[in-house]
Amino acid sequence: MDERILNDAQETGEEMVELSLRPIVLSQYIGQDTIKRNLKIFIDAAKMRGEALDHVILHGPPGLGKTTLSNIIAHEMEVNIRTTTGPAIERPGDLAAILSSLEPGDVLFIDEIHRLPRIVEEILYSAMEDFFIDVVIGKGDEARSIRIDLPPFTLVGATTRFGSLSAPLRDRFGVQLRLEYYDIDSLETIINRTADIFDSKIDADSAHELAKRSRGTPRIANRLLRRVRDFSMVKEEKSITLETTNYALNVLEVDGEGLDPVDHKIMQTIIETYGGGPVGLETVAVSIGEEVITLLDVYEPYLIQKGFLERTPRGRKATAKAIDYFEQSFGANNNEY
Ligand code: ADE
Repeated sequence: MDERILNDAQETGEEMVELSLRPIVLSQYIGQDTIKRNLKIFIDAAKMRGEALDHVILHGPPGLGKTTLSNIIAHEMEVNIRTTTGPAIERPGDLAAILSSLEPGDVLFIDEIHRLPRIVEEILYSAMEDFFIDVVIGKGDEARSIRIDLPPFTLVGATTRFGSLSAPLRDRFGVQLRLEYYDIDSLETIINRTADIFDSKIDADSAHELAKRSRGTPRIANRLLRRVRDFSMVKEEKSITLETTNYALNVLEVDGEGLDPVDHKIMQTIIETYGGGPVGLETVAVSIGEEVITLLDVYEPYLIQKGFLERTPRGRKATAKAIDYFEQSFGANNNEY
């Protein structure tokens, strides 16, 4: 592994494959053109001034490349990156230990930064703004505060929930970037790049079909490609065909719009049980046995983006487009994937 990456997490086999597919430099990164263009300017300018890059917050749905971008930022700045997550930093002392081990200019990447405990978050304020922290040591009458000066560093935070960051934390990020779902062309390019790395051949219409059914998300595109490649290999195809792609995606229960059985359950509940809504998200979550957080972070953003779901002040509503689309897939065993 790149020695610049000090990772607190343990990866599974598939996550290791996913890691090996990640682009290293900005020019290899496909899609998110506005973000790339802006980041390049901020990075070039910081390097010209010989300064650390301003703090960066990356937000948006899961799987769109926030971690990848943070590693690219460190690589392009030619500095080390230290990676951790919000819930892993339990006490102020944990954060103090990480911050005081940084070299000038280093990147500290905190994934799921919205899950930082409040007492830890409060220490971050002075660290981000003035590069020092006050740590209280001892208890009761013995307690005293010591100031620790820090090297200038770049905090890169990632979150699926920008809205749940406190205003003081949010406002201390000089660079705020929202990742959007990828368009089909970008996903096709990513799928072809990954197939190349796997030394697999894939027909153009197969790559297009996979791209269409990947929920605008590279992580999903790469996962589906691995599965489709399995089916194709067993059939001893020279190149992954559209027939095999369609077959595999149907077996994997990914429909023509990239929706999975949970999406179908959500929409079916809203349309059939609650007359199209509006219905509270908690009610939907209980009805289908999923966590509210999962619906909020993973399922809703894509259903809204596709124009199937609306958030109203009185709850979630199915759109006319959804009623049209899902009508055909309801009824006993009539799930067309
Ligand atoms: N693999 C996953 N996401 C990617 C991206 N945005 N560009 C290139 N390869 C990727």
